[in-house]
Amino acid sequence: MENKKFYVTTPIYYPSGKFHIGTAYTTVLADTFKKYKKLRGFDSYLLTGTDEHGQKIQTIAENSNVEPQEYVDKIASQAKELWLKMNIEYDDFIRTTEERHVVIVQKIFEYFLEKGDIYKGIYEGMYCVPCETYFTEKQLIEGKCPDCGREVTLMKEEAYFFNMKNYAERLIKLYEETDFIIPEYKKSEMINNFLKPGLEDLCVTRTSFKWGINVKSDENHVIYVWLDALTNYITALGYLSEDKTLFNKYWPADLQIVGKDIARFHLIYWPIFLMALDLPLPKKILVHNWFMMKEGKMSKSKGNVIYPETLIDRYGLDATKYFLLRELPLHQDGVFSPEGFIQRFNSDLCNDLGNLLNRTIGMINKYFKGNIYNYNGQKNEGDKKLEEFTNLQHNKIQLAMDNYEVVTALTEIWNLISKTNKYIDETSPWVLAKEGEEDKLKSVMYHLVENLRKIAIYLTPFMQDTKDSIFRQLGINENLQTWESLIDYTKIPENTKVVKQGEPLFLRLEKEEEINYLKNQINLL
Ligand code: MSP
Repeated sequence: MENKKFYVTTPIYYPSGKFHIGTAYTTVLADTFKKYKKLRGFDSYLLTGTDEHGQKIQTIAENSNVEPQEYVDKIASQAKELWLKMNIEYDDFIRTTEERHVVIVQKIFEYFLEKGDIYKGIYEGMYCVPCETYFTEKQLIEGKCPDCGREVTLMKEEAYFFNMKNYAERLIKLYEETDFIIPEYKKSEMINNFLKPGLEDLCVTRTSFKWGINVKSDENHVIYVWLDALTNYITALGYLSEDKTLFNKYWPADLQIVGKDIARFHLIYWPIFLMALDLPLPKKILVHNWFMMKEGKMSKSKGNVIYPETLIDRYGLDATKYFLLRELPLHQDGVFSPEGFIQRFNSDLCNDLGNLLNRTIGMINKYFKGNIYNYNGQKNEGDKKLEEFTNLQHNKIQLAMDNYEVVTALTEIWNLISKTNKYIDETSPWVLAKEGEEDKLKSVMYHLVENLRKIAIYLTPFMQDTKDSIFRQLGINENLQTWESLIDYTKIPENTKVVKQGEPLFLRLEKEEEINYLKNQINLL
C-alpha cells in the first residue's frame, strides 16, 4: 500500500530583517502543497524555521547593540506572527540556536570527522562576506561575487573541509538515474557550472566569528552555516535524538522547496551530506525563481520592497496569496507591479470568480426562491459539454498539483471559471425563464452550483476564506467539500438552499487610486 505521508520543507530564513513578499513566497508555496496533500488524505507535515547563526547575524546584532540571541529571538517571533497572519499551517518551526538542533549538528560533525569525510586544512579563497561564501577564481563574475555581485576579499584561515570530491561521481550518477530536481534544467545547470569544472571541497568551519555551533573536539572552530543550516531538515524530526518517531515516519522528505539562489546548496551539498550519513535522499527538490520589482531585485536600499502585510491589510490574504502563486512562473522570474496586482484582483478575482458566484446566487433566488433542485439526469446539450469540459479540467488540475505546478493549476482552475461563466451566456437562463423551460432552467442552475462547488474545492489549498465563503453562500455541507466528492454531477442533495443575498467575494478596486496607494507604499521606505 502507498505510504500516505507528505513531508514538505521551506528553507530556514535568515533573520536579517523583515520578510518581504519574495521571502514569504517559498512558505506560501510549501503551505499550499501541504494543504493540497491534506485534502488528498495524506498525513502532511510542514517544516519551516530560521537560520540564526553566522557572521552576518552577528554583525547586525552588534550594530544594533544587542546580543545575537536577543536579536534572533525577536525576528523569529516576528516570523511566527507573519506565518500566523498568512494562515500558514506549519507543524514545526526549527531555530538553529535551539538545543535540539545544536547537539545533533555537533554529533554529525564528529561522525564525519571520524569517518574521514571531514579533514583539517588551510583555506584560502575569495570570500563574499554578505553571502558568507567562498568562491574559486573561476566562479567569480568579473571578479565579483556570482550570487550578489558585490566585492569579494582574499581570505586565509585554518579550517575543516568536507571532502565533496569523494562523492562527486556518486552525485553525477544520481543525477543520471533519478529525477528528483524540478525543473529539469536545473540539473544541467548544476552539472555544467559546478560538477564538470570539478567539485571543490566545502569549507565547513570558521574561526573568524563566534556566533555559531562549536566543534566539540576543537572549540576554536564554529560550524559554518551550510552544514549547520541544511541539517535542520532532519534534526527537526529528531534524527539521532532519543525520540526518532517523527524521523522514522517522515524522512525522506517528499518535497523540499528552495529559491534559485540556494539551489546549489540543496542540489549538491545536501544530497552529499545525506549520502555520507547513509540516509535516503528527498524525493523532490523544487527550485523556484524570484519575485522582482520592475526596477530589478527587491532591495531596501533601492527603496523598492513590498511587504506581505501591506497587501494583506488592504486587499486580504487570499488576494495576496493568489497573486504570489499565480505570478511566478516555473521557468523565469515573476514581477510584482502595482498595475499587475490590481489587474489580477479586478479581472480574475472580481470579474471572473466573484461575478460567477454572484450571478448564480442572484438567478437561483430570482427563479427558484433560493432552492437548488436536484439534477434529474436530463442533460441538455450545453450541460453535457460543460460536464465533459469540467471532467477534463479535473484531470489537468490534479496532474498539475501532483507535479507541483501551481501556475498551471491556477490557470486551469480559471479556465474552468471562464468556461462556467460562458455557459451562463450560452444557455441564457433569462430566455429559458421567459419561455417557461423550467426543467432546463433547473438543470442550468444545478450545473452552475455544482461547478462552483468544484471550483471551491480546487481553491481549498490556495484561498481558505474564499472557498469557505463559496461553500457557505451555496449551502454546501462538509461532506461535499472533499476531493473525492469532485467526481460526477449528482452530489448536491434536494433541499439545498443558497443564501438570500449574495455577498461579494472581492470588491472591485478603483484602479488609479490603488496603483497610487501601492506605489506610495513601495516608496515609503
Ligand atoms: N538561510 C538560507 C537558507 C538555508 S536553508 C537550509 C537563506 N535564507 S534567506 O532568508 O536568504 O532566503 C530564504 C528563501 O527566500 C530562499 O529560498 C530564497 O530564494 C527566497 N527568496 C529571497 N528573495 C526572494 C525573492 N525576491 N523572490 C522569491 N524568493 C526569494 O537563503
